Amino acid sequence: MSTGIRFDGVTVAYGRTVVLDSLDLTVEPGEVMALLGPSGSGKTTALRAVAGFVQPVAGRVFIGDRDVTDLPPHRRGIGMVVQQYALFPHMRVDANVAFGLKARKTPREEVAARVTEALETTGMAPYAKRYPRELSGGQQQRVAIARALAIRPGVLLFDEPLSALDAQLRSGVLAELARLHRDLPDVSMLYVTHDQAEALTLADRIAVMDRAGLRDCGTPQDLYRRPRTAFTASFIGNANLLPVTVTDHGRVRLGDTALDVPTGDAAPGARATLCIRPHLVGLGEGPNTLRGTVTEVQWRGVTHRLSAEVAGHRVTADVRELREAPSPGTGIALHFAADDAVLLPAGEAGGAAHG
Ligand SMILES: Nc1ncnc2c1ncn2[C@@H]1O[C@H](COP(=O)(O)OP(=O)(O)O)[C@@H](O)[C@H]1O
Ligand SMILES: [Mg+2]
Repeated sequence: MSTGIRFDGVTVAYGRTVVLDSLDLTVEPGEVMALLGPSGSGKTTALRAVAGFVQPVAGRVFIGDRDVTDLPPHRRGIGMVVQQYALFPHMRVDANVAFGLKARKTPREEVAARVTEALETTGMAPYAKRYPRELSGGQQQRVAIARALAIRPGVLLFDEPLSALDAQLRSGVLAELARLHRDLPDVSMLYVTHDQAEALTLADRIAVMDRAGLRDCGTPQDLYRRPRTAFTASFIGNANLLPVTVTDHGRVRLGDTALDVPTGDAAPGARATLCIRPHLVGLGEGPNTLRGTVTEVQWRGVTHRLSAEVAGHRVTADVRELREAPSPGTGIALHFAADDAVLLPAGEAGGAAHG
């Protein structure tokens, strides 16, 4: 069984429009990689290139050591689950799960054993004789997962598999998928989603896509703590993204305020985006003080979310255990530690925290 996926300069175009631009990405054997990005960023296209439903105009796709670029979908050893439970309505659950095996001319006794195994893995064995219409959306999606598993794929592909489910069913199937990952330690999974919560829950690593390209890739913690682009910072978690100018090694200017932050190899005079997570902004003066005016106060249970205008930009702080919240319109001092700030290339995604 081949496992692991590699995109090597994979480019897909429709007519003259490039919708996937020279993607280089490796999913290790046994790894869950989320492809996370907004609608239209090329996620499904990347998945379909692995499945064999779309042919790249350049680049190669590997599954394990095999170059599968020119193989038809059924010879790639992949299982795929898509958004709409694409079950055959006139077939019972067991027949749906057996479908891919029969298409591959698997011997009859083996079909029965594999169907049972796949249904047991997804907790759907008691429903083997039902029709899809007799199941909830979450159960139908479990059957779709069983069908993908039945062929014992080295690679599982998921395209927004939870997006047609309501919130409660979604968290149930999400937990099921996490368990599946533990039960199948050798199977690589590529999981397409626009939902950061799903990616953070499930993925070992996240590949962040935007406008046909890969913008960032790392563990959820890496991307949260050390995003490489303003796009990643704003897409994963909340971020204050402030336009600054590098004045010196280790120093930047926000409006008239000088701040000490790691500047890496950014040259003096360069424009950059300073990223600070709201929970790392404290109330009062500190090593890097930002002075401004309170614009909004939201009580959120454990924290208060304070928004302030600082040098014409919105800065958000999530402050814990605040005895007395400041009033909008009053002056405020906020601070952050140099180590908690990340300097990013001046990005198009500039702006304030959201969510
Ligand atoms: N068959 C197609 N013909 C023309 N354009 C397409 C086709 N499929 C997708 N696209 C375009 O490719 C881009 C990426 O689509 P897709 O990979 O589905 O994005 P995502 O899954 O990230 O939402 C979009 O702009 C989409 O309109
Ligand atoms: Mg899509």
